Amino acid sequence: MPFYQKKGQLPHKRHTQFAKPDGTLHHEQLFGTIGFDGMSSLLYHLHPPTMVTSVEAPRNARPIEGVKEHITSRRVQGFNVPSSGAALASRVPLMFNADCVIAVARPDAPDPQARFYKNADSDEVVFIHDGTGTLHTMFGDLAYKPGDYLVVPRGVIHRWSPEKGSDQRWLVIESAQPIVTPKRYRNHFGQLLEHSPYCERDFRSPELQEPVNQTGAFPIDIRKEGMIHTVTYERHPFDVVGWDGYHFPYAFSIHDFEPITGRVHQPPPVHQTFETNAFVICSFCPRLYDYHPKSIPAPYNHSNIDSDEVLYYVEGNFMSRKGISRGDLTLHPGGIPHGPHPGTYEGSIGKTETAELAVMVDTFRPLRLTQQAIDIEDTGYHTSWLGYTPQKID
Ligand SMILES: [Fe+2]
Repeated sequence: MPFYQKKGQLPHKRHTQFAKPDGTLHHEQLFGTIGFDGMSSLLYHLHPPTMVTSVEAPRNARPIEGVKEHITSRRVQGFNVPSSGAALASRVPLMFNADCVIAVARPDAPDPQARFYKNADSDEVVFIHDGTGTLHTMFGDLAYKPGDYLVVPRGVIHRWSPEKGSDQRWLVIESAQPIVTPKRYRNHFGQLLEHSPYCERDFRSPELQEPVNQTGAFPIDIRKEGMIHTVTYERHPFDVVGWDGYHFPYAFSIHDFEPITGRVHQPPPVHQTFETNAFVICSFCPRLYDYHPKSIPAPYNHSNIDSDEVLYYVEGNFMSRKGISRGDLTLHPGGIPHGPHPGTYEGSIGKTETAELAVMVDTFRPLRLTQQAIDIEDTGYHTSWLGYTPQKID
C-alpha cells in the first residue's frame, strides 16, 4: 500500500548498526517489489532470514485445464466444491490463465504452528465470505471477519488460524502482477484522492507481535513457478522486532467501500477496488439506485469484447441475474455480449435500492476452467436468457 507504516523497534538510520541487548546485531532485510523500483519495507530480524537446513523435491500445484478455448457463459456453484483441510490444501482452483488463478476454499483446520506458506509467484487477495480468524505474517497479525479482502503481497511468509467452530468460505485470487489500488484514485504522491471510494483509514495494517526467538525446524511451503517447494529453516521466520515502509499485507472490508451512484446507470469501473496490469477486482455493494425519473437500474447489455468477466455472489439478490445462490461464480467470456436475465431489465424500474453484494474479477486475457469447475457446472446457464417476453412500461 502506498502509505508509510512503522512498527516496533528500528535503528535511527537504515543500513546502520542496530544492536540487541546482548551486543550482537539485528539482521536487516529489504522486502521489495519490481526490482528496487517498487514499494518496499525494511524488516529487522533477530537472526539472518537465510539459514536453510534442507530443500525438498517440489510438487506440482499448477491448475489443471478442464476446458481450453471456449465461448460459453458459465455458472459454477462454488459452495458445492469439495474443500477441506488447512488453508493451502483446501484451495480449489476454478478458473485461471497466465495472469491469475481464481479459487474457492473452505478450510476447516488451522495451519500447523510451525509450518508456513509463501507464494513467490503471485500476490494474493483472499476475500472472506464467511468466517473469522487471524492471518499470522512476518509483519504481524491481521484479524479477519466476513467481508474482508486480505491482500498478501508475494513473498510474505504467513500461516492462517481460522477461529475454531467458525465455518470458512473464501474466494482466493492469485495474481502474477502486483495487486494495487487504482492509479486514478491516487495523487502523484500516492495519497488516496477525495473521489476515491475509500481512504487510508479504511485499510488495516498488521499488528506486530513479540518476536519468536526459536531454533528448530521451520518448513516454509514456497510456491515458485507453480510448484510447491518445501524449504526448511533453522530459525522461526517471525523473529521481526520492527519494520517500516510501504509494502506489507493489509485488510480492507468490502463494507467500507463507498458506492458511487448517479442519475443513470453507472458502469463497472465505479465499483473498482483493486487493479493489476492484467485484471481488475470490483466490489458491488448495497447502494441507492439511479434517480433519473426514467432510469433503468439494471445494467444495459454490454459486450465483453476484450475481457472475461467473473462475478462471485456474496449476499442479497443480484439485480440482473436469476437463479443465483450465495457462493456462485458466473463467467461471461469475452467476445459475446451479456446482460440482464429476462424480466429483470423491466423489473428493475422503480426500485430505489439494492442489497446485492458481489465481487467481480475482469481479466484482460481469456480464462480456462479447471476440471473441478466443470464437475459442478450448471450446464444450462448459457441458454438461460431465452424466453424473453417484452413488457409494456407504464
Ligand atoms: Fe457485465
